[in-house]
Amino acid sequence: MRLRSLITIFALAAITATFAAPNRTEGETASGISAQALKAKTDYCKTCHGLNGQGFRGSFPMPRLAGQQPEYIANQLQAFIERRRTNPVMFNVAHVLDPPMVKALSEYFRDLNPKPLGGAPRELVTDGKKIYEEGVSSTNVPPCASCHGPEAKGTDAFPRLAGQLHDYISRKLSDWDRERGQKKDQPDNSAIMQPIAHDLTAAQIKAVAAYVSQLE
Ligand code: HEC
Ligand code: HEC
Repeated sequence: MRLRSLITIFALAAITATFAAPNRTEGETASGISAQALKAKTDYCKTCHGLNGQGFRGSFPMPRLAGQQPEYIANQLQAFIERRRTNPVMFNVAHVLDPPMVKALSEYFRDLNPKPLGGAPRELVTDGKKIYEEGVSSTNVPPCASCHGPEAKGTDAFPRLAGQLHDYISRKLSDWDRERGQKKDQPDNSAIMQPIAHDLTAAQIKAVAAYVSQLE
């Protein structure tokens, strides 16, 4: 190999290394957001979503964000911004966030792990577990576990359900058609859940929500 091509290879390697390990200034997160700016934002999120992201019951349930899949969080923030998912509160919160901040926020909440808020009727948990693990064969509802995972921790775009507020889950499943996938010309992942939410009865929704809400 000629010296010139060797030099080129070394030069390229040096450039790659520079990009692979950016010199982070102190107090900066992986997304390039300052720790201070991220804290200001997360403090704001926590006024509604709970001090540890565990969710909060106000005049209506605020969902748990702790331990949620970053890809799912980012997808939902984008869906609020584009009004594919309708919620006036979260539209206002989300439309000012730029992509690096969305990334930093979703990674921040992924790493929190508080205990579930609880409060669901215990007597529904057994029925709910059966629906979660086996689905409902008479109405062709697939096992929730097949997408949300055996422990309901989710993966990538499939959200975590473990520890989620049971009353939030019940409301979301009952209102799916009115809140999610609201731009028919821009189909999104909400279409995957649509038939499932639609085919569950109110009693089945309550039971499965009770089951996942107490999983840690
Ligand atoms: C003023 C109250 C309020 C604040 C502040 C707030 N949220 Fe929300 N958020 C809500 C409510 C209410 C919902 C539930 C919307 C619904 O019912 O569809 C929600 C839903 C969400 C969801 C969807 C969760 C899911 O399981 O699908 C995400 C993600 C989210 N918020 C992220 C954030 C982030 C990040 C911040 C801070 C930048 C934040 N929120 C600040 C009230 C708030
Ligand atoms: C074929 C895969 C699949 C199956 C099976 C499935 N889900 Fe989902 N589910 C999804 C996807 C994908 C989303 C995210 C939709 C989005 O991004 O808008 C979702 C979202 C949800 C949400 C909204 C979570 C939130 O934080 O707002 C709930 C609740 C939910 N699913 C419950 C269930 C239950 C209960 C079952 C079983 C009866 C089930 N899912 C079965 C794929 C599935």
